[in-house]
Amino acid sequence: MTIFILSVSEHIHSTQRIYKEARRRGHTVEIINHLKCSIKLGNDKPEIIYQGENIIDIPDVIIPRIGVSAMRHGAAVVKEFEMNGVYSIASSEGIIKAQNKVSTLQIMSRNNLPIPQTVFSVDPESVSEQLDLLGGAPIIIKLQEGTHGSGVILAESKKSAISIIDTMYSSNTSILLQEFIKESNNEDIRAFVIGDKVISSMKRKGLEDDFRSNIHKGGSGSKVVLTPEEEQIAIKAAQYLELPIAGVDMIRAKRGSLLIEVNSTPGLQGIETYTNDNIAKAIVKFLEANVQTKL
Ligand SMILES: Nc1ncnc2c1ncn2[C@@H]1O[C@H](COP(=O)(O)OP(=O)(O)OP(=O)(O)O)[C@@H](O)[C@H]1O
Ligand SMILES: [Mg+2]
Repeated sequence: MTIFILSVSEHIHSTQRIYKEARRRGHTVEIINHLKCSIKLGNDKPEIIYQGENIIDIPDVIIPRIGVSAMRHGAAVVKEFEMNGVYSIASSEGIIKAQNKVSTLQIMSRNNLPIPQTVFSVDPESVSEQLDLLGGAPIIIKLQEGTHGSGVILAESKKSAISIIDTMYSSNTSILLQEFIKESNNEDIRAFVIGDKVISSMKRKGLEDDFRSNIHKGGSGSKVVLTPEEEQIAIKAAQYLELPIAGVDMIRAKRGSLLIEVNSTPGLQGIETYTNDNIAKAIVKFLEANVQTKL
């Protein structure tokens, strides 16, 4: 089949891994920089133009690897392919929803998947009451569209929580407030979902003096076996967000595992290294089994 990987650079590790595995299995693969795609609407048929000149021939499949910086344009390009009948391993809707933690948690909560107690608001007058809704400090304050642990704060006292939240609201920064799951012990779980299966999972552990387990913040990973409940949470989360492929993150609380976020472009480097699983190959095999190629 013909596959486009939408990625800003061919040098990104995960992009290379998928490219190589797909080529190895005999597919025609191109890496397309979605930031160089223009879309022309208004004629009979919309056109996707690449690098200002060539009109793109539609592939059988796209694999969007859309980063945070150009998420909106990336999702619009994905949508254009979708409307042309191309199978995408991440729906444009799913990419947009997963990007925002509040949208994700709203959908999870609505569908009864377990999440940490969460409050979102923009009202500076009721900060104290918002904290009380979560049982007071310590609490977690997150940027709604944070990334790699850089937008997550642990406020240990009510006093510091109030001043941080106040600053965020007055600078129009979208945040959410969340109960702090102390017993998660600087660890989180990443489940890599492909279709209706979790095909690999790892535990990430943060540095000793950091509650965040992000590998970008110096954390490290190891292979982990999920409970059947965790598998179900991960598979359903990906389904609710219309993401055939997703990285679902959970933390282990006393009352069970809680979903914290879903990634529509889960990286391969960390998880393949820590688990020894060949995820790029599993992605390509999933496409072979599920995508109708054009004649
Ligand atoms: N409610 C919580 N209680 C305890 N620890 C938490 C909680 N929420 C997040 N953490 C820890 O902080 C880390 C970062 O949080 P989160 O994954 O929500 O944001 P992020 O990694 O910045 O976002 P992204 O993955 O989109 O870049 C988590 O991996 C987890 O270890
Ligand atoms: Mg995270």
